[in-house]
Formats: sequence, C-alpha cells, structure tokens
Amino acid sequence: MKKIRVGVIGVGNCFSGLIQGIEFYKRNRKTIKIGLMHEKIGNYSIYDIDFVSAFDVAENKIGKKLCDAIYTCPNCVNWVKNVSIGKDVIVKESPLLDGIGIYTASLIKPKKQTKSIKKLREEILEEIRKTKTEILINYLPVGAQKASEFWASIAIESKCGFINCIPVFIASDKAWGTKFKMAHIPVIGDDIKSQIGATIVHRTLTKLCVDRGAKINRTYQINVGGNTDFLTMLERNRLESKKISKTEAVRSLIPSGIEDRNIYVGPSDFIPFLGNTKLAFIRIEGKMFAEIPFNMELRLEVDDKANSAGVAIDAIRYCKIALDHNVGGPLIEPSAWLMKHPPLQMGDEEAKKKTEEWLMNLTMI
Ligand SMILES: NC(=O)c1ccc[n+]([C@@H]2O[C@H](COP(=O)([O-])OP(=O)(O)OC[C@H]3O[C@@H](n4cnc5c(N)ncnc54)[C@H](O)[C@@H]3O)[C@@H](O)[C@H]2O)c1
Repeated sequence: MKKIRVGVIGVGNCFSGLIQGIEFYKRNRKTIKIGLMHEKIGNYSIYDIDFVSAFDVAENKIGKKLCDAIYTCPNCVNWVKNVSIGKDVIVKESPLLDGIGIYTASLIKPKKQTKSIKKLREEILEEIRKTKTEILINYLPVGAQKASEFWASIAIESKCGFINCIPVFIASDKAWGTKFKMAHIPVIGDDIKSQIGATIVHRTLTKLCVDRGAKINRTYQINVGGNTDFLTMLERNRLESKKISKTEAVRSLIPSGIEDRNIYVGPSDFIPFLGNTKLAFIRIEGKMFAEIPFNMELRLEVDDKANSAGVAIDAIRYCKIALDHNVGGPLIEPSAWLMKHPPLQMGDEEAKKKTEEWLMNLTMI
C-alpha cells in the first residue's frame, strides 16, 4: 500500500498529539486497539500516514527535524518520547501574516522574515514538489484568516488535498469551495470536531432533548484550558468565526431555533496550569411534558489534543481516498461528520451514515 504523504502547517500541540499518537499505536501495534474510530478506512490503516513536509514561523522550530520540533516550547504534549516519524523532515519557513496573536507573541518568537512572500511561496511550492506532499493539514492558530487563505491557495496550486482543522471558513466558504471544485482538489473543513469534545457532547444532548419532544429554552457551553490555543482565544477579535462555528454546530440541531440571547457557546478563559487539559461546562434548560421545566449540567474533562488527533487521523484518510478517486471540491459528507462548520450541517448519526455510503460508493468503483 502506498503511504499517504502529508504536509503540516503549524507544528503546534495538535500536530504533536497526532504524530505522537501514531507513534504510540506503532509501538503497541499488537496489543492496543483502543481509541480509534477506524483502524482502516478503505485500504488505509493509520500506519500508512507519513509526514513528509512541515511549515511554521517559530524561530525555535524552523530548521529543526520535525521529530524534535514537536517537543519544542511552547508545545506541551509529551505522551511518547523520541518519535521516529518525521526524522528526515526539516521544518521550513511559512509567511507569518496574521499567524501570531498578541497574547501568544510572548511565547512564540517568529523567525525574522527576510524573504518576500513571493519568494517564500516559491520555496514552499518547491518543498511540496520535492517531498511529493499530497495532502496539507492546516493547524494554524485561531484567527489566522490571511495565513489560512495563503495556504489554501498553495494547496490549489500544488494540487494537494486540504484539511482545514481551524475555525477559518474555507471548505464552507462558497468562493473557496468553488475554487477547490474548479481545481478538482478535495477539501475537508472547517474547524475539527473533537473525538469526545464539548461540541459533539453538546450536540448529542441537544439532539436527545429534541428527539424526546422537549423544548430547549437556554443553553451554554463554557470551555477553559491552558495551552497556546486558549491563550490565543483571549484575543476576542480573533474569535468571530470560532464562535460562529461552535454556536452553529449546536444551534443547527434545534429545529425551532434559539435566539442569540439564549445560547452561549465559546471559550471563556485561559488557566495556565491546565496545559492541554480542557474543561467544558454545559448547561441545558428547557421544558418537557406539560411544560414542566428541567435542566441538566455536565462537566467534561479531556485532553484537548488527543481529542483533535483522534479525528484528524480519519480526515487524512478520507482526503486521500478522494484524491485516489479524483474527487474534488468540498467533501460534504466527511466534513459534516468530522468538522464543526462543514459546508452542509447534518445530524451526527446521518453524517456518519452518509460518510460510510460516500466511502462505499467510491471504493466500489
Ligand atoms: N481540540 C483541539 O485542539 C482543536 C479543535 C478544533 C480546532 N482546533 C484548532 O487547531 C488549531 C491548532 O491548534 P494548536 O493547539 O495546535 O495550536 P498551537 O498554538 O499549539 O500551534 C499553532 C502553531 O502554528 C504556528 N504558526 C503560527 N503562525 C503561523 C504561520 N503563519 N505559518 C505557519 N505556522 C504558524 C505556531 O508557531 C505554532 O507552532 C487552532 O486554530 C485550534 O483552534 C483545535
């Protein structure tokens, strides 16, 4: 089986979790099967994923081997030491654009950029060509609109599939969706839905209330964490699309709708000592039979990065299968299943079923 040749944009905690997770499964191949949605998708197992190129802006990551850069400060995922994947890959320079926020600027020192964006673009395209990268996965910080658009255009020009894990709208944006469609390049996005994250849990509880005939009057979801993602999210004006993405993921399941003042979904604070531990507090208030009120509260404690990696590992394989079968444009079904803000929202059960059908139709050809 051919390897899936992936390039990473942003060697931060999410990517560190993904690569360390794959190494974990490799080392425990015979014994451990827990934690994967799919060991295989089509003919691709998780061991077929290879990382062949990497791009960042941090002075202490550029020029390093990828297998070392993943442990570099302020990254704080340390599940598996001495990862062997990516030992031949050197992290290359990406244009900074709007990558670093005001709060993270104290932790991430960008390399002084002496080259023009045009020059960097040429070098990046050459690196993608040389390394035969076929999929780019976007892990830029929240609010990196211009940088994400730069990388979406690189994906189109280099004919790489694009997986947009961040809450900037590319797959779900009409203009970008059309560009990918015209170029016949698959794109999965936007904003990765974590494996057992606040969004999927909140959606499941919302659907439960709706399916059981209850009316949801008010609901909130508060998230706190202590990694650079949460630090970046202190900058509220970088959060507009994150808030839309997370709110719509819940609101779309309430057929009667819910007014803005009765729904709050968003990150709320940065608590440094939490590191990658993320806490979510979810509350739903409503009325049930005979308009009798009810409410529920839930506290979820998860590792934020295991959560995103457990989903990205499937997104990569769906994207590769689309490339193999010459399918381009936004991948509607996998995006609805794996992402918070897909081009088309569906219930999770329906999205899972439709993704399985999509896969079966393609792989039967
Ligand atoms: N559960 C989750 O962790 C989860 C869920 C949904 C979405 N996301 C999103 O995934 C993204 C990545 O999260 P993370 O925790 O890895 O963030 P992070 O802060 O740990 O990593 C971001 C990386 O991007 C680099 N970077 C900044 N500007 C850049 C540029 N212009 N070009 C290339 N690299 C650049 C930084 O140096 C850093 O290495 C965030 O947008 C986050 O909101 C994460």
